Amino acid sequence: MESQSKEHAIVLESQAHVWNHMLSFINSMSLKCAIDLGIPDIIHKHGKPMSLPQLISSLQIHPSKAPNIHRLMRLLTHSGFFTLHSDGYVLTHPCTLLLKDNPLSAVPFFLSMLDPMLTKPWYELGKWFQQGNDGDKTTPFEAAHGRAFWEYAWHVPRLYKLFDETLVNDSRMVGGVVVEKCKGVFEGLESLVDVGGGSGTMAKAIAQEFPKMECIVFDSPYVVGELKGSGNLKFVQGDMFQAIPPSDGLMLKWSLHDWNDEECLKILKKCKEAIVSKGKGGKLIIIDMVVDDEKGDYESIQTQLLFDLLTMVVLCGKERTEKEWANLFSSAGFSSYKITPVLGVRSLIEVYP
Ligand SMILES: C[S@@+](CC[C@H](N)C(=O)[O-])C[C@H]1O[C@@H](n2cnc3c(N)ncnc32)[C@H](O)[C@@H]1O
Repeated sequence: MESQSKEHAIVLESQAHVWNHMLSFINSMSLKCAIDLGIPDIIHKHGKPMSLPQLISSLQIHPSKAPNIHRLMRLLTHSGFFTLHSDGYVLTHPCTLLLKDNPLSAVPFFLSMLDPMLTKPWYELGKWFQQGNDGDKTTPFEAAHGRAFWEYAWHVPRLYKLFDETLVNDSRMVGGVVVEKCKGVFEGLESLVDVGGGSGTMAKAIAQEFPKMECIVFDSPYVVGELKGSGNLKFVQGDMFQAIPPSDGLMLKWSLHDWNDEECLKILKKCKEAIVSKGKGGKLIIIDMVVDDEKGDYESIQTQLLFDLLTMVVLCGKERTEKEWANLFSSAGFSSYKITPVLGVRSLIEVYP
């Protein structure tokens, strides 16, 4: 009797666990709906707690749907995006990143990840595991869209704009933290090339902080072809698999996780060739995740593991453990490295020639 009731408890708990994961996409989609309706911005502009009737009257929704808003808000309050006080809703800290005008806004990233162009490849994942041939590097993204991710993104303006905004906003955040907490990493460098530096937000933050340092943003012609530098910052177009401009310091921010080990090794070898002041402060600075599925809190570990699958599905890339990074660095001929975990789920890694 007692063992039967224990079994029932296990089955019911298991069911809740399965249902929770089955319906997890509703968390993302409900939050997207709140962004689409402008709910975080409306509550923020209100400037004080906003009651449900006040929120409803500020939304552009059909009156027949008004009674459902509290259901959306109840879920999003439960998931930690709003707090309900006696006089109404206020934003939590994570929700401030969902304000469209916040310079650190995560909205472009959020909307790109939930765009059908980016959700479609997930439907290919099972088939992707089953099919293929030796050396096959086709990603589920490519299977769904016929082109590799960056080739595709560079040519679809709507998608490219969302990615560029994602990277600009992220670089503002990372640039701010790096300049505040890791200034010493850049001290003594006369020049820095930000390899795959996008439209240059990260390099600009460093160029401003170190006016004597020559900073180059190096990226594909599609990205930097039209961009003009100023002061100690310039843009150079090229292909990091071919040749990288020579410099004391090189940076690879949020780029290596886009690539598989073979491609990463090629990029790292090109970086090593490009570092001019070997043994005299020359270094490669990487900003990426170091996966550790033992240490860390549940949410951070899960975020890293979710990103790992994201890079696999979209880019043929991966998030790496310290051991995987160390193997890559030594295979590319670097002598040592130092990891500084100051960027939330990402770290800053200094790699020495
Ligand atoms: C994930 S983004 C990171 C951008 C930037 N480092 C940041 O964090 O904001 C990767 C960048 O690598 C660039 N890229 C991709 N393939 C490249 C290549 N073969 N040569 C140079 N840049 C490339 C992309 O255009 C893109 O800007």
